[in-house]
Amino acid sequence: MWGVFHAAGVACEGELVEKPELTAAEKRAVELISKGMESPSFQPPILPAVAHEALLISKNPDLDLRQVASIIEKDSSLAARFLSVANSALYRRGGPATSVKSALTRMGLVAARDLLIYAALEKVFVIAKPLLPTVRALGHHSLAVSSGAGYLAQYKRIDIEDASLAGLVHDLGASAVLKYISDRTSVFKDLLSNAKALCNVLWELHSVAGAKLAERWELPPPVRKVIAEHHDEELTDPLVVLIAAADELALLCKKGVEFDRPQEGALARFLDGADPDVVTDAFMMRLVDVEAL
Ligand SMILES: [Fe+2]
Ligand SMILES: [Fe+2]
Repeated sequence: MWGVFHAAGVACEGELVEKPELTAAEKRAVELISKGMESPSFQPPILPAVAHEALLISKNPDLDLRQVASIIEKDSSLAARFLSVANSALYRRGGPATSVKSALTRMGLVAARDLLIYAALEKVFVIAKPLLPTVRALGHHSLAVSSGAGYLAQYKRIDIEDASLAGLVHDLGASAVLKYISDRTSVFKDLLSNAKALCNVLWELHSVAGAKLAERWELPPPVRKVIAEHHDEELTDPLVVLIAAADELALLCKKGVEFDRPQEGALARFLDGADPDVVTDAFMMRLVDVEAL
């Protein structure tokens, strides 16, 4: 289900590029979408209960696996997904996992939480067919940044749970904007037929749109900060700095999406002395396992 990480459709070639000048048509689309999403009549997507429960999982030291298993078992397709991930090359140890509880034991709570959130968000952001390649590319990018953030967290003793969640949802705003466009395909038909313009519009809007949705969904404050600030020029918060580095790492490993333009040098600055090429190669090898999911 996670598929390969190769971003489809709008895959980025890996070069780090400057923020583009928007065309007049792109500026109009940005204005229309911003106004629409700020309008009192706009109904933003609701955070599914299962994602809300998942957010509480890793912060509860008393939680036992049976409680988490019971959340997953309420949805048979979700339960099947957990079993398939637990039996994939990345997690498979010995015989197959045959119950949700054994799948969870194998994956660990952080990975389980992230899979629950990823699956829940997929259901929220159901998108019209012409946008599916962009959505898939964005999903693969989010998984790569989440994995990269968890990987890089070891260099600065940053909480791996926060890192992985922040990586997973850092471009939440892009999904929100795509959903808005997808629900109004007749209004945005020019944008739907122009991948470059769509990327430019997503770039312009995704941090602000994501920050608003994250606030509404009451995501943890450190994660909200990442969503709002990960493309700011001056980065100081350690988790934001980490995600900017993971964003660049994903792009260097060609797991980027065209709309997202990480800061050049964010990875080297984060590593502060360690060789970015060595770290990128090591992460690439790890991604081979993730791609087997
Ligand atoms: Fe971004
Ligand atoms: Fe990104």
